[in-house]
Amino acid sequence: MSRPKTALSVINEAHADHPGDGLTSVRSSGLRGGQHLSLASASAVLAVEGVSKTFQLNGKALTVLSDFSLAVSKGEFISIVGSSGCGKSTLLRLIAGLDSSYDGSIVWLGEQVSGTSLDRGLVFQEHRLFPWLTVEQNVALALESSGLTQQEIDARVKHQIELVGLSGFAQAYPHQISGGMSQRVAIARALVLKPRLLLLDEPFGALDALTRLKMQQELQRLWETEGTTSILVTHDVEEAVFLGDRVVVMEANPGRIKRVVDVDLPRPRHRTSAEFQHIKDDVLSDFIEIS
Ligand SMILES: Nc1ncnc2c1ncn2[C@@H]1O[C@H](COP(=O)(O)OP(=O)(O)OP(=O)(O)O)[C@@H](O)[C@H]1O
Ligand SMILES: [Mg+2]
Repeated sequence: MSRPKTALSVINEAHADHPGDGLTSVRSSGLRGGQHLSLASASAVLAVEGVSKTFQLNGKALTVLSDFSLAVSKGEFISIVGSSGCGKSTLLRLIAGLDSSYDGSIVWLGEQVSGTSLDRGLVFQEHRLFPWLTVEQNVALALESSGLTQQEIDARVKHQIELVGLSGFAQAYPHQISGGMSQRVAIARALVLKPRLLLLDEPFGALDALTRLKMQQELQRLWETEGTTSILVTHDVEEAVFLGDRVVVMEANPGRIKRVVDVDLPRPRHRTSAEFQHIKDDVLSDFIEIS
């Protein structure tokens, strides 16, 4: 499964930090710890089992994730919500393979995760575009060492830029486009590699409310088009319910799963419907409790 490194994976690895984490997650609604995990793992493309992660901070051990277990099925969209500092980014980094020091196990497509792989794409909390490269060049950078011909790269980049609705801006530089457009470029840069797992860390956190709504719809459309298994970390409960097949509610100190809520609503979801509001309020009550 390992493909050649690209400039993007080098960038990712530059952000890889220290060893020594652990996390654990849970799977079915209302379950905690690793209950029913082996059953859930059987059909899972991603199985996070009993993961715990401890950092050393000022000479003291800080356990950030504790016994986190979660099994994710092919094509599933998982949303993760939780208060600041509860270990969400840490968890995504472990799944991405940016940090391989933890207790427990993370298995992707039957193999233990060890290091980054181009089939697990990560969109960071901030877009991290290169200001001296155009939109097109930023997206193409991910394919630099892919082994594809220049023609194939051009076609893929063009298609991906179209998919995120930026066709007219391929030659623009990051300072010439808005924050929302920059986030779309970052998503295009992750998707152009055709990852089988898309990890999104608060990708819309810096956007205004209206742009955010639009981006959520676009992400939903992309997910339906591409069918990529996705994990979205967000502080926005409505966003989590709008996009997720399941919403994982985390609690902090140490970061662990409080509850997993199924969102059994047809798509596209109507935010004003009674069913949507009910699930949102349900998740929100947990979220408020833990913040
Ligand atoms: N490299 C590190 N060394 C020491 N502590 C770290 C390191 N990275 C993260 N932490 C600690 O781990 C905890 C969880 O951090 P993390 O970034 O995963 O939180 P988060 O849930 O993503 O928060 P936010 O919602 O604010 O992005 C925090 O207490 C943070 O200080
Ligand atoms: Mg974070």
